[in-house]
Amino acid sequence: MLRTLGKTGIEITPIGLGCMQFAGTANVTRWMVRPIGQDTATSVVRAALDGGVNWFDTAEMYGNGHSERMLATALKSCGITPGEVTVATKWAPLGRTAASITRTIGDRLRHLGGFPVDLHQIHMPTGSLSSIPAQLKAMAGLLKAGRIRSVGVSNFSARQLELAHRVLAAEGITLASNQVRINLVHRNVERDGVLDTARRLGVTLIAYSPLEGGLLTGRFHDDPALARSAPVMRRFFGRRELSAQGLARTRPLIDELRAIGQAYGVTISQVAINWVINRYGDTVVAIPGASKPRQAAEAAAAMDFRLTESEIGRLNELSLT
Ligand SMILES: NC(=O)c1ccc[n+]([C@@H]2O[C@H](COP(=O)([O-])OP(=O)(O)OC[C@H]3O[C@@H](n4cnc5c(N)ncnc54)[C@H](OP(=O)(O)O)[C@@H]3O)[C@@H](O)[C@H]2O)c1
Repeated sequence: MLRTLGKTGIEITPIGLGCMQFAGTANVTRWMVRPIGQDTATSVVRAALDGGVNWFDTAEMYGNGHSERMLATALKSCGITPGEVTVATKWAPLGRTAASITRTIGDRLRHLGGFPVDLHQIHMPTGSLSSIPAQLKAMAGLLKAGRIRSVGVSNFSARQLELAHRVLAAEGITLASNQVRINLVHRNVERDGVLDTARRLGVTLIAYSPLEGGLLTGRFHDDPALARSAPVMRRFFGRRELSAQGLARTRPLIDELRAIGQAYGVTISQVAINWVINRYGDTVVAIPGASKPRQAAEAAAAMDFRLTESEIGRLNELSLT
C-alpha cells in the first residue's frame, strides 16, 4: 500500500499527518488552528503511528519552528528514532530572498532535533524577493550538500510546476511533490492543469485540507452554531461554505458520505479522506490535520478500506466542481 514520493524512492503511506495543528501561538497560524499542548500533540502523533502512518508534514511557518519542535518531541516520546519515519517541512518565502533557504536550514534541522528533512518544500510561489528558479537552485544546493533528501513545492500552478521541474532537472534532481488543497469540495487540480502536469512529470500531489478544515466531517451540518467558535481565519476563508446556504448546498454530499460510511462501518470523514487518496490513483496522498488523538486515529484508519469506482463516481457527482 506504500506509495513513492515522486521519483525519489522515498516510500510513504497514502495518509500522512498534517502538523499545522502543532503551531502554538507564535505567529499568524494561531488564527487558523487552536493551540494544543505537547502532551496532546504526542498523543496525536502516537495515534497516527499506531494507525500505520509513516510520515509527517510540518513547516517553518507553523509557529516559527514550534510545530517542528513539537513533532520531534512527540516522535521521540513515541520511541521513534531518526530515519524510521519520513519528515517533510517547508521554507517560508514571505519577504525573503532565496539565500534564506540556505541560511535557515540549520534552524529547521535544529528544531527537528535530529530528525532529517526528508522533503523540503517552498511553502508558496509568491512573496519571495527572489525568482522561483533562484529558490529551486538554493534547494538543489541543499540536496547536493546532503542537508535535505528531496525537494518539493506547495501551492504551485501547472506552469510554475513545469518551471520548478525544469530548473531542478538541469541540476540533475527530480521534483518530488506539489502540496495543494484537494478535497471533495475543492477539485481545482482537475481543471487547472496541476493534476495532468503532476502525472506527466511523475510528481506526487500532497493534498492539504482533505477535510476542508472539518467541513467534510459533517460536524457543521449537524450543528451550524459550531462554525461561530471556529478559529477566525477558518471562519473567514470558509465563510461561503459555512453559511446557511453553503451548508445546504453540501448537505446532499454529507448525506451520501454518511450512507457510504455506514456500509463500511466508518465515519463521514473517513469516506472523504478515502476519496482523496483513491480518486486520483497513486498520484495524490493526503495529510489530514488532527488536534485530538481520536481524529488522527480515524484519519489513519481511512487507509483500511477502499471505495469502489461507483461510490467514487457518486461522490464526484454530488461534490462541487
Ligand atoms: N501547504 C499549505 O499551504 C497548507 C495549507 C493548509 C494546511 N496545510 C497542511 O495540511 C494539513 C491539514 O490541513 P487543515 O488542517 O487545513 O485541514 P483538514 O485536515 O481538512 O482539517 C483538519 C481539522 O478538521 C477537524 N477534524 C479532523 N478530523 C476530525 C474528525 N474525525 N472529526 C471531527 N473533526 C475532525 C479538526 O478540527 P479541530 O482541530 O477544530 O477539532 C482538524 O484540526 C495541515 O496540518 C498542514 O500540515 C498546508
